[in-house]
Amino acid sequence: MADIIPAPEALEPALALLEAGEVVAIPTETVYGLAGDATNGQAVARIFEAKGRPRFNPLIAHVADMAMAERIAIFDPLSRRLAEAFWPGPLTLVLPLRQEAGIHPLVSAGLDTIALRMPKGFGGELIRRLGRPLAAPSANSSGRISATTARAVADDLGARIKLVVDGGATPVGLESTIVKVEQGGLRLLRPGGIAATDIEAVAGVLLLRGAVGIQAPGMLASHYAPGAAMRLSVERIVKGEALLAFGPKRTAGWQDAVAVKNLSERGDLTEAAANLFSFMQALDRSGAAVIAVEPVPQDGLGEAINDRLARAAAPRDKPLVET
Ligand code: TXA
Ligand code: MG
Repeated sequence: MADIIPAPEALEPALALLEAGEVVAIPTETVYGLAGDATNGQAVARIFEAKGRPRFNPLIAHVADMAMAERIAIFDPLSRRLAEAFWPGPLTLVLPLRQEAGIHPLVSAGLDTIALRMPKGFGGELIRRLGRPLAAPSANSSGRISATTARAVADDLGARIKLVVDGGATPVGLESTIVKVEQGGLRLLRPGGIAATDIEAVAGVLLLRGAVGIQAPGMLASHYAPGAAMRLSVERIVKGEALLAFGPKRTAGWQDAVAVKNLSERGDLTEAAANLFSFMQALDRSGAAVIAVEPVPQDGLGEAINDRLARAAAPRDKPLVET
C-alpha cells in the first residue's frame, strides 16, 4: 500500500522516487495528479500503467516557472498574456512543442503540441527542486472520478503506487480549463477551474467551441463515472435515489432520497466545484442505484460542473476510452 505523507515532510521522499523514475500522487490546486518525470519514458509509462489508461491520450506537462515553460513550448504574445494572468493556476495551454525540449513522446502522444500548466503550491515546489517538468494526469484509474483528497487517491490507486502526498482537500476541485492557441484564436478544449468568460476577458477574444481534429480527450462520452447511474436536472426525486443538491431550494420528493449532499447551500458555483467529485463519491458509497442531480446553472464554473455531470451520466455500454 502507498504511504500517505503530509506535504511538508513529503518533498524529499517524493523527489527521491521521481529521480528513480517512479510515480507519486501529488496535490495540486485543481485535483490530485499522478506525477512522473516528463523526460523519462519509463516514468511516463508507469503513469499509464497505474491508471490503466489507453496510451494514445496525451498528458499535461507541469512546469515550475516561465523559463521552463518557454524551453518546452513556443509562446506567442496571446499565450504569454494568458500565462501571465493565470499562472500559477488552473489553466492549461496547448502550444506548439519544441521537439528538442526532451519531453518524452509518450507525454505528447506523438503530437506536435504539448499541454502545459504551472500548478500552485506543493507541485510547483517539487518541480522546481526536480528541475524537470512533471507529466501528471488526474490521480484516478481510467474512467473514475478525479480525486480531490489523498484518501480518495489511496483508495483507488494505493495498491499500485508507493507514495501519496497529502496536501488536504484540493481548493478548486475541478480539473484545469484547457485552451488551445490556434492561428485564428483560442479554442476551449475542456471547461474547468477557470471560467471561460474570465479567459475571454483577458484574451480580448471569444473562445472557439467544439474540438476539431484531436479533441481534448477528457472529452469522450462516459467519463468521471461513479458506480451509480446519474439522472440530471431532476424535477422530482424517485424513492431510493440519492440526491446531489444545489442551492437553498430542494426538489420535490427530496425527503425520499436515501442520502443527500448539497454542492452549495448558498448556490455558490466555486464552492460547488470544490465539492463535486467528493460528494459524487460519497453518494456512490450510499449504495443507491441512481444519483439524482438538481439543475446547476450554466454560468461561470457551472459550465465545467455541468460538463463533468454530463460525462458521469453518459451511457456506460460503450467501452470507456479515457480519463
Ligand atoms: O487540473 C488538471 O488539469 C489535472 C491536474 C493534475 O493538473 N490534470 C488533468 O490531466 O486533468 P488529465 O490527463 O486527466 O487531462 C488532461 C487532458 C486530457 O483530456 C488530454 O487528452 C488533454 O488534456 N491533452 C493533453 N495534451 C493535449 C494536446 N496536445 N492536445 C489536446 N489535448 C491534450
Ligand atoms: Mg483525468
